[in-house]
Amino acid sequence: MNINFSMEESVKKRYSVRNYQEQEVELDKRKAIETFVNSMDNPFEKKVNFHFLDNGETKSQEKLGTYGVIKGAKQYIGTTINLEPLSLEALGYELEVVILYLAHLGLGTCWLGGTFNRKGFAKAMDIGESEIFPIITPYGYAATKKHIKEIAMRKMIQADHRKEWSQLFFKNDFHNPLTKEEARELAFPLEMVRLGPSASNKQPWRILINDNACHFYEYKEPGYSERFSYDIQRVDMGIAAAHFDLSVKEKGIKGHFVTAGEPKIELPENLEYAFSWVRVHKDI
Ligand SMILES: Cc1cc2nc3c(=O)[nH]c(=O)nc-3n(C[C@H](O)[C@H](O)[C@H](O)COP(=O)(O)O)c2cc1C
Repeated sequence: MNINFSMEESVKKRYSVRNYQEQEVELDKRKAIETFVNSMDNPFEKKVNFHFLDNGETKSQEKLGTYGVIKGAKQYIGTTINLEPLSLEALGYELEVVILYLAHLGLGTCWLGGTFNRKGFAKAMDIGESEIFPIITPYGYAATKKHIKEIAMRKMIQADHRKEWSQLFFKNDFHNPLTKEEARELAFPLEMVRLGPSASNKQPWRILINDNACHFYEYKEPGYSERFSYDIQRVDMGIAAAHFDLSVKEKGIKGHFVTAGEPKIELPENLEYAFSWVRVHKDI
């Protein structure tokens, strides 16, 4: 995986694009995207499969429906996994890295976990039933204006809003919010996590810093994932891991993810430990 874009630029450029221009993505860009996708890996060491669909508009619109959410998109990327511990996080990580790369290329995307016709897209992308198919994204050039439904959706889920630091990041225990000053050089990776996309913009990530580790927790919104056969907010946790990991790497801060680093502390309600990032050779 060779990251050749600035995290801050791509994170700030990316937003959910639901209205696309007629103009197709050029063949050389499509090839570059495929090469980039083929080089993907993730710290959770779970396999994520990518599926491309290049003529989304000419195939039956009805079957490739997005309930009127996405308009004008011709290209789509689908992702499938075996459902096992950390595979949803792996999907979140890899697809978000791809999405940030697409933002760097000037292309719009939109994470879709709910509003797409799974059966129709599975058929068009030749996806069998042995894997689960949690997410697709359209990609292409953003139209100059948002469509009406898109404007209404963004307003309803407050898509432009992000939680404050004091709601997301903590030091030693969950009674003690972490300030940017205390986070020192980790302030940048944490800020990049804060700006990330999440299902219905719920921002379920909570990060606790102690000793030389950042512990990632998921705030499980009660009832939220019930309409799926898996916890879709674990995909959001993978997105948080991608933003954190690419940012520390960009800044030359050394560390790695571990999955069994849960500290023995009291947890607020609905909070579940996900994974940790352990810094090498330095106290945080
Ligand atoms: C895992 C996941 C699933 C999502 N599913 C949908 C979806 O089904 N339909 C949709 O219109 N947006 C979906 N979104 C987009 C979010 O609503 C969006 O990222 C969030 O509101 C923040 O807005 P922004 O992406 O413009 O920053 C999803 C995002 C994520 C991360």
